[in-house]
Amino acid sequence: EVIVVKHLEPFRLSLEKLKVVSTRLRKDMIRGLGKHTHHRAAVKMLPTFVRATPDGTEKGDFLALDLGGTNFRVLHVRVMEEEQKMVKMDSQLCAIPQEIMLGTGEQLFDHIAACLSEFLDSQNLKGQTLPMGFTFSFPCEQKEIDKSILIRWTKGFNCSGVEGEDVVKLLKEAIHRRGDYDISSVAMVNDTVGTMMSCGYRDQTCEIGMIIGTGTNACYMEEMKNVKRVEGEDGQMCINTEWGGFGDDGSLEDILTEFDKVVDRTSINPGVHTFEKMISGMYLGEIVRLVLMKLTEKKLLFKGEVSEALRTKETFETKFISMIEDGLENAKKILTELGLTWDLVDARVVRLVCETISSRSARLCAAALATIVDRIRVNRGLPHLKTTVGVDGTVYKKHPKMQPSMHFLTPDCKIKFLVSEDGSGKGAAMVTAVAQRLALQSRLLEESDGEEDEEEKVRS
Ligand code: BGC
Repeated sequence: EVIVVKHLEPFRLSLEKLKVVSTRLRKDMIRGLGKHTHHRAAVKMLPTFVRATPDGTEKGDFLALDLGGTNFRVLHVRVMEEEQKMVKMDSQLCAIPQEIMLGTGEQLFDHIAACLSEFLDSQNLKGQTLPMGFTFSFPCEQKEIDKSILIRWTKGFNCSGVEGEDVVKLLKEAIHRRGDYDISSVAMVNDTVGTMMSCGYRDQTCEIGMIIGTGTNACYMEEMKNVKRVEGEDGQMCINTEWGGFGDDGSLEDILTEFDKVVDRTSINPGVHTFEKMISGMYLGEIVRLVLMKLTEKKLLFKGEVSEALRTKETFETKFISMIEDGLENAKKILTELGLTWDLVDARVVRLVCETISSRSARLCAAALATIVDRIRVNRGLPHLKTTVGVDGTVYKKHPKMQPSMHFLTPDCKIKFLVSEDGSGKGAAMVTAVAQRLALQSRLLEESDGEEDEEEKVRS
């Protein structure tokens, strides 16, 4: 076991190392926000045009679309002001088959438009044009809340003809190709933003959204005066950090292991989303598999005998990790299913490997989150900050170790975690609701300004 530990050493990140990582991320965030530095920034820090979190006066009926994993969802959401409740009236799930995930953009958006059509029929909503929020969980350069250009696909998607295009336009074109219904305004939302906004409705101190699922990312409320790429100095704007891209310029070279490099090389997007590939659900299982392969080749596991399953890419699912950490009985079952001949020592070693990989993921996330929380604290000139983070994603929810390990890097901040239920769907509705509230408020303000002007004229 001592030799095994030696092989796992590169995955163990000391507190000092995590602080170094956090400092690098802090610098990268500043680079991403800068007017002249953002083009080359690995951490993109994308403006979202979401300027406020909920205040509880939002209301109305909304449609929400949600694309980001292997499914596409449509929801009808009602925000009820009196009861302070956001209710999912109904929803529908459409699977996205792999040939569509890797097909053309036109096929993808036709599929989405068809799914939406079916839902509107079933809800008798085709006559009405409800305001719509679209949670699209990929990095987008937003020009306005309803204009959102895909920078690049991540996770399992790679549809042709979408990168560099406005997603709202592609959706509208697909709907027009059908011609059986129409939509009005669309607010584009990243899933982190949706999560922050839906948690923000329950807890108005929520100003950070974090996802640790198939992919990983976070957003937070930044001071407008620091968002150099968008005009205006007052108030705040939510920034989608796209921290998954951290390290894409080589800045994490010193902590990458040989296994991380293989995962990257064999992925559908080599060189992209370095940080994400060390953390999120799409990759953790594969890292474990590669480590197990290596230990077996070194005759430290399974008497040196690799099974066909273990040799095959992506057969070790990420969910096995938390199952194995839960108990040795699970480990034994999974190893048998993978066609391996194991003894008790093997099962223990496998559990150790799983623990090592998942705690690295948790510690890296904690370092990144600490960087954001501390930035908010410094922005506000506070000695101490109390804040709430809305969180979603299967890795966070299923992994017992994720949450407790989030605190150790932020001595000056107290972080409360709020697990989001259905955040990316409902959050899109909430973004739309907040945007409507702000528009209404500014209209009322203009009108009252107008009235004052009239009075001025009469007086003079
Ligand atoms: C995407 C982000 C998204 C995250 C979590 C990443 O791959 O780039 O936009 O928020 O996954 O779903």
